[in-house]
Amino acid sequence: MNIEANSIWQPPAQEPDIASDRPGRSDADLAAWRDLTARVMDIARRNGWSKAEAARRIDMPDGTFSQWYGGNYTGRLDTQNLKVARWLESTESAAALAQALPDAPTFVNTRTAQEIFRTLELAQMSPDMVIITLAAGMGKTHTTRHYCATRPHAFRVTMRPQTKTCHAMLVEIARCLAVIETNPAKLDSAIGARLQRNGRQTLLIIDEAQNIEDRAVDQLRYFLDEYGCGIALTGNTSVYGRFKDRQGGPDYAQIKTRTGKRLNRHQPYPEDITALIDAWEIHDAEQRKLLTGIGRKPGHLRQIDKTLRLAFLLAAGERAPLSVKHIAAAYQNREWED
Ligand SMILES: Nc1ncnc2c1ncn2[C@@H]1O[C@H](COP(=O)(O)OP(=O)(O)OP(=O)(O)O)[C@@H](O)[C@H]1O
Ligand SMILES: [Mg+2]
Repeated sequence: MNIEANSIWQPPAQEPDIASDRPGRSDADLAAWRDLTARVMDIARRNGWSKAEAARRIDMPDGTFSQWYGGNYTGRLDTQNLKVARWLESTESAAALAQALPDAPTFVNTRTAQEIFRTLELAQMSPDMVIITLAAGMGKTHTTRHYCATRPHAFRVTMRPQTKTCHAMLVEIARCLAVIETNPAKLDSAIGARLQRNGRQTLLIIDEAQNIEDRAVDQLRYFLDEYGCGIALTGNTSVYGRFKDRQGGPDYAQIKTRTGKRLNRHQPYPEDITALIDAWEIHDAEQRKLLTGIGRKPGHLRQIDKTLRLAFLLAAGERAPLSVKHIAAAYQNREWED
């Protein structure tokens, strides 16, 4: 219980005047106001919100909120009541939703995650260029994010079709590194200066690397050679095929010979799936079996995560404990085919 919020939030000192017969001030509006102010006080106390914070969340000007709550608002009471009622409804149902979901595991140190970590460490320490290509939902993004959150001097950018060209990629990297350089001709050296090791060991992770063109890959090679920054390309299997299958062109030879390590898998290890199910604290044998099957389908760990979230909500809707039935229904709902 938040003591400070309790003292800020006292019941309104007075009630709105409805005797003057102005529009939007019926008996029903007054009754609604009584109910709403009590609910606002309760939710704000529980969350430790100030009055300004509550007003901001409701999206009502400070002054209007304070008059409405204090019972001395002179405008239409019904309009402000409706605004508060809508906000309360969405806030309360969001809180109920959050309660229905158990704490989802944040990061699980799966075997695949450990392999990704070792590969990234190699790139960062050597320095080297590494390529990590795993099937969708196997944890590339999740694990590389965790790496950057827990290791110094590691940066991660996500490529998209719009950042395909070398310049667009550089702009994206500059944004991530907070490099400000308005002259396009100087952009790569400004980024290079930021990435330069200077005794540090830096790593640049390019996620969704299938979206960048060859010249952009060559630019990354330059960061490795010139500034000693480790480079990790992560993405779908087309990134891997690009260097593996193409024989022609000096660029490919240059990049191939610089690649310190490749990690390429199409399926998670069975123990990855087990570790994630453990982390969700699912102990029932039948539920585990079903989830294991789901984890082998394309989308792998993401399938487990999303299916379980929905399954818990279905169970909460029935006020029942999670069962195989909820998991099956959630999975079926998420599948696009019957
Ligand atoms: N190590 C992990 N710990 C906990 N959850 C994980 C882990 N790896 C994956 N997940 C779960 O699986 C989901 C999908 O993972 P992620 O987005 O990293 O896949 P991806 O390999 O980047 O897939 P895509 O190729 O589609 O981008 C995550 O949102 C998370 O819920
Ligand atoms: Mg990803």
